[in-house]
Amino acid sequence: MNHGFITFEGIDGAGKSSHIEALAQWLRVRGREVLLTREPGGTALAERLRELLLHEPMDALTESLLVFAARRDHLRQRIEPALARGATVLCDRFTDATFAYQGGGRGFDLAVLGQLEGWVQQGRQPDLTLWFDLPPTVAARRRAAARAADRFESEDEIFFTRVREGYAARATAAPERFIRIDAEQPREAVWAQIERELQERGW
Ligand code: TYD
Repeated sequence: MNHGFITFEGIDGAGKSSHIEALAQWLRVRGREVLLTREPGGTALAERLRELLLHEPMDALTESLLVFAARRDHLRQRIEPALARGATVLCDRFTDATFAYQGGGRGFDLAVLGQLEGWVQQGRQPDLTLWFDLPPTVAARRRAAARAADRFESEDEIFFTRVREGYAARATAAPERFIRIDAEQPREAVWAQIERELQERGW
């Protein structure tokens, strides 16, 4: 049986949150220990960095340094120890979000992001990435019905089009770990696809 590190990605409003919870339950029912966590966040330090990232004005390099600093702490304190004891780690966003948001959305240098990725992760990559993909116009409608927007959620459609392209580029570069989920489908159909894809891969 497969176990390891699963990440969830997609533009804001793609509807991934409820499925992460459902997948955690699905795995626990099958006897797995599950660590359910998120980025930026997952440790006391990383959650403080998250607050700064979401609410304080800053440039794209500062954003990138903060998300990778948070990621470093998260990996060392929680993700690596959980994987070492055989748990399955479900993480709401990871480095693909940095390439999509800071790289795609903000237009920041992908080579610099690649260097930070190497330093911080020391080769660690997700085993599987569920990419919740949908058109930015649909995501914007869903966000409008939700809570007050943070620095990213209040960006325009052009920004989210670039973020989506950023995800698409990462998926093309690592097709073995990416599963594209059609997030425009009704919630039950999205869940059915997730369950099918995991079963097919022996999770
Ligand atoms: P998320 O947890 O999905 O937001 P919410 O709690 O509203 O569901 O993500 C927080 C925001 O952080 C999201 O807009 C994307 C952004 N982000 C980056 O810009 N770079 C990153 O590396 C990560 C992990 C997130």
